[in-house]
Amino acid sequence: MEVKETDKRTSQTTRRTFLQAGSMVFLGLTMPACKPAAGVRESLALSGGSKTVDFPAAKLDALTRWPRYGSDEKKALHDLIDSNKFYEELPAFEKEWKEYTKSPYVKAHMNGSSAITSMFFALDLPPGSEIMVPSYDFFTDCLAQRFFGYVPIFIDIDPHTACFDLNDAKRKLTRNTRAVFPMHSWGLPCEMDHITNFAKEKGLIVIEDAAHAHGATMQGKKMGTWGVMGIYSFQATKVLPSVEGGMGMYQTREYYERAAAFGHYEDPLKFPLDSPVRAYEGTGFGQKYRMHPFAAAIARQQLRGLDERNAFVEANVRRLNDRLIQLPGLSEPRIRPDQKRAYYYANMLLLDPSKAGFSRDTLMKALKAEGVSISMWDYPEQHKLKIYSEAKWWHHPPTIPLSMPGNEYVNHNHIFLPLLYDEAAELIDQYAKAFEKVWAHRSELATL
Ligand SMILES: Cc1ncc(COP(=O)(O)O)c(C=O)c1O
Repeated sequence: MEVKETDKRTSQTTRRTFLQAGSMVFLGLTMPACKPAAGVRESLALSGGSKTVDFPAAKLDALTRWPRYGSDEKKALHDLIDSNKFYEELPAFEKEWKEYTKSPYVKAHMNGSSAITSMFFALDLPPGSEIMVPSYDFFTDCLAQRFFGYVPIFIDIDPHTACFDLNDAKRKLTRNTRAVFPMHSWGLPCEMDHITNFAKEKGLIVIEDAAHAHGATMQGKKMGTWGVMGIYSFQATKVLPSVEGGMGMYQTREYYERAAAFGHYEDPLKFPLDSPVRAYEGTGFGQKYRMHPFAAAIARQQLRGLDERNAFVEANVRRLNDRLIQLPGLSEPRIRPDQKRAYYYANMLLLDPSKAGFSRDTLMKALKAEGVSISMWDYPEQHKLKIYSEAKWWHHPPTIPLSMPGNEYVNHNHIFLPLLYDEAAELIDQYAKAFEKVWAHRSELATL
C-alpha cells in the first residue's frame, strides 16, 4: 500500500526534473492546496503559539533507545563466561546467520570494515582495477581499496532513493572497471536486478555493502546475497547491533576461503585438502580479524528478534509517514513493490522546497519549536575528503569528480525523524499534527 503511495509521488518524475525542482527558487510559486486539520490554525510555536508536542523527553528517550539489550543478552554473556568455551560462539553464530540469510558461505569478522578489506583481498584483481562505489558511503568501502592497488570510481546516488545510481555507473565505465560495489543506504535495497544485469553484460563482479540492511530483501532474497560477496556490520548503531562485529557473505567456496584466510590464520586447516589457501595455516595472509565471542553471543540473541523488531519499527514508520507524505513537497525514498527495506538509524524523508514553499532550515526551526525531535546529517562525500586527492597514498590515484548532484540533493534536502522501537501512537499523532500545523502556515513560512 505504502509503496504505491510513494511510487505515485515519484514515478512520473525523471531524475533531472527532480533535481531541478529541488534547486528551484520556491518563493512566489503557487502552492498546491493542503487541507488544514483541526488545531493546525493555531499560531506556530515559532511565532509564540503553543507547542504541539508535549511528549515527555524521558519517554522519548526510552522509545528511541538503541541498541536494546535485556535479560537474554545478559544471560547469554553470563553463560558464555561460565562455560569458559568462548570460541564456540563464533561457528554457532555463523551457522545461524547462514541459515537466516540462505548464503552458501559466511564468515564472522571483528567489524564490517575487516570484512570489506578481506573481500577486496579475495577479489584478487590486478593493481589499477577499478571498483565503482558510491561516494555517499562509509570510508572503508572506498579507502581500503588502496591496500590492493584498486581504484575507487566514485558513483553518484539516485536522489529518489539515496542508493547507487546505475546511470552514473554506465557513464563512468572504462576498460579497467572490474567490479561494482553498491551500498543499501539506510536499509533501502539498491535495484540489484538492474545492477547485476548491467554487471553481467559488461563482465563486472558485483560485491555488496549490506551494513545498513539486516533483514532487508529484494525479490525475497536477502541483501548481501545478490553479489558474489557482501558484508554486514553489527556495530552498535546498526539494525542488528553487537556493539562491534561484522560478517562476510560469499557465494563461492573460492571467495569464502580466500576472504576467511586473510584475517583468520587458523581457518586454512579447516578447508578441504585441495584448497589453494590451505598451505597458509598459521599465518593466513597477515591480518587477525576474529570477531569477539562476546559480540557473537549478543548478535545471536539479537538475531532471534530481528524480523519482529524490523516489522515493529516499520509499522511505526508507516503510521507516521502515511500522514506526512500527504503534505506537498514531503516524500519518502522510493521503494519498489518487490523490495522489503529495513530502517537503519532514522526515518529519512525528503523535502522538495519548491513544492513545500519553504526551505529545510525553516522547516527544521518550525518543527523544533513545535517540539519535534528532527535532525539532519550530511553523509560525508568520500570524493571530497583529503586522502583521495593525495596521489602518495595510491597505487593508481582516483579521479575526483567535479560534482555529485544526487549526493548534494539528498544531503541538502533530507530530514531525519527518530525510529521508534515501542508502541508510540500518542507521539506519532503529535508529530503528525506538528507537521500538519507547519504546513497550514506555509505562506507565513515562505516569507521567513
Ligand atoms: C555503509 C557502511 N559500510 C561499512 C561500515 C563499516 O562497518 P564497521 O563500523 O563495523 O567497521 C559501516 C559502518 O558504519 C557503514 O555504515
